[in-house]
Amino acid sequence: MNVLFVTSEVYPLIKTGGLADVSASLPRALLQQNQDVRILVPAYQSLLAKLDKVREIAQTQHYGYTVRILQTTLPSTRVKVLLVDCPALFDRPGNPYLDSTGVEWHDNALRFALLCQVAVDVALNRLAFDWAVDVVHCNDWQSALVPALLSRFEQRPATVFTIHNLAYQGLYPKQTFINLGLPAELWTMHGVEYHDYFSFIKGGLNYADRLNTVSPQYAAEIQTEQFGFGLQDLLLHRSSELSGILNGIDTEVWNPGRDTYLHQKYNTRSLDKKVLNKLALQKQFALTEDSEVPLIGLISRLVEQKGLDLILDSMPELLKMPLQLIFLGSGEALYQAELKKLALAHPDSVAVHIGYDEALSHQMEAACDLYLMPSLFEPCGLNQLYSLRYGTIPLVTAVGGLADSVVSYTDESRANHTATGFVLNSASAASLVEAVALALEVYAQKETWRQLQLNAMQQDFSWQASSQEYLRLYQQAVLDTE
Ligand code: ADP
Ligand code: GLC
Repeated sequence: MNVLFVTSEVYPLIKTGGLADVSASLPRALLQQNQDVRILVPAYQSLLAKLDKVREIAQTQHYGYTVRILQTTLPSTRVKVLLVDCPALFDRPGNPYLDSTGVEWHDNALRFALLCQVAVDVALNRLAFDWAVDVVHCNDWQSALVPALLSRFEQRPATVFTIHNLAYQGLYPKQTFINLGLPAELWTMHGVEYHDYFSFIKGGLNYADRLNTVSPQYAAEIQTEQFGFGLQDLLLHRSSELSGILNGIDTEVWNPGRDTYLHQKYNTRSLDKKVLNKLALQKQFALTEDSEVPLIGLISRLVEQKGLDLILDSMPELLKMPLQLIFLGSGEALYQAELKKLALAHPDSVAVHIGYDEALSHQMEAACDLYLMPSLFEPCGLNQLYSLRYGTIPLVTAVGGLADSVVSYTDESRANHTATGFVLNSASAASLVEAVALALEVYAQKETWRQLQLNAMQQDFSWQASSQEYLRLYQQAVLDTE
C-alpha cells in the first residue's frame, strides 16, 4: 500500500512528545512489511538544520505562499520523508507549536491548515510525483483537516485518523475558518463547527473513514464524559469505526543492551550492572551516592495530564521515605518552579533538570529503579514501555495505555510471574504514597524485585503486532471507500 503519513513531529528530526516517536517507528515497521509509507511534516527551522541531503521534488501554492516539497529520508533508515518548506511559516526558532518564550504561535491555524492543504495536493496526486496514494494516515488536530478536505472528492484515497491526545483539539474562532477560505459546507455540527468555534480535530473525527486511538482502554474511555473532552457523543456515534491499537516502541533506539547514551549497557543476563548507571547519575546530580537507595524517575512534559499535582501533593510523605527522586521535564512554569524548589530544599535526595534532554532521558531510564507515571489520563504513554524494557518498574494510574501495558503487582501476579509494575488504586496522592510504600517493601526483597524486573524486560512491545493491526485498519478504510 502507498501510505501518506501526515504528522507535525517525527523523531529524531523534531520532537516534543510521544507523537514524534510513533511517527518514526510505525512507518519504519510498515516499511519492513514492504509498505510504501512516506511521512509528510513541516520543514521547521531546527529540522532543516539536522539534514544535509534534501532535494526539491515539487512546488505548490497556498494562502499566497510558494511552498516547496523537499524529499529526504529519516536518519539511518530508508523511510522517505516529504518536507513542507514554507519559510514564512516554519523557518523560526522555538518548537512546532510554541515560540521560544512558550507562547503559542499566533498563526498556528494557518500553519497547520497549510500542512493539510499540501497533504491534499499529494493525496490527489496533483504534484506529478507519480505516486498514487491508497491511504492518508493523519495524526492529531494538526493534520485533521485532511479527511474533511478530501471528503469533497469522488476519487480520493481512504483516510485514517489517529487520536494521540483528545485534550488538544485545535479550537479557533469562526473568523479563522472564514479567513482560511475553507469550504462553507464544512461549517456544520457534523463538520468542523463546535459550539460556534472552528475545531480542527472534528475534521478528522467526522470525516475520516476509520478512527483509532493509541490503546484499547483509551478508545473506550473517550466515549465517556469523564475522558471525552466534550467529544464523547460524536465518538460514541462513530463507535463502530473507532478502535484502539496499542503503540509499539522502537526496540533499537530503546535497547539497554546497545544504548550508546548509557554509562553502562546491560541486559537480562547482566542485570547486576544496571546499578552502575544509578551510581553515575547520582554522582552527576550530586545526590548521595548509594547503590541501595531506591531511585525514582520521571521524564515528562510538565502538564496537568501527567499527574504533577498528585506528585507534588504526595511529596511531604514521600520525602519521609528512604528514597531519591529525579525529574526531567519542561512545561508549565508553576510545575517547573515547584520542582526546582524541592531540589533546592533536598539536594541530597531530589534532583531536577528543567529542559529537554534526549541523552539524559535514556540515562534516567537505565539508572532508576522505579518510574513514576501517575497520569490523570494517558492515551498510550511510551515512558512506561521504555521503563519496562530497561527493568525500571513503572508506578502508574489505571488509565488508558498505562492500564493496557502494566500488570499490577499482587500476590497472584507475583506468584505466576506476570507482575510488571505497581498500579495506583485511584488517581490520588494517598494512593500514590501507598503504591510507593508497597514498591519499597518489594524492592527490599531482592529476589522478588529481580523477578519483577525480568518479567518487565521480557515483555514484547515492539511494533510487530501493532503495525499489522494498522495494516488491517488501512485495508478496512480502503474497503469503506470502494
Ligand atoms: P506524551 O506524548 O504525552 O508527552 P509519551 O509518554 O507518549 O507522552 O511520550 C513522551 C516522549 O517524550 C518520550 O519519548 C519521553 O522520553 C520524551 N520526553 C518528554 N519530556 C522529555 C524531556 N524533557 N527530555 C527528553 N525527553 C522527553
Ligand atoms: C500523546 C499521548 C501519549 C501517547 C503519544 C503517542 O502525546 O499523550 O499518551 O503515547 O501521544 O501516541
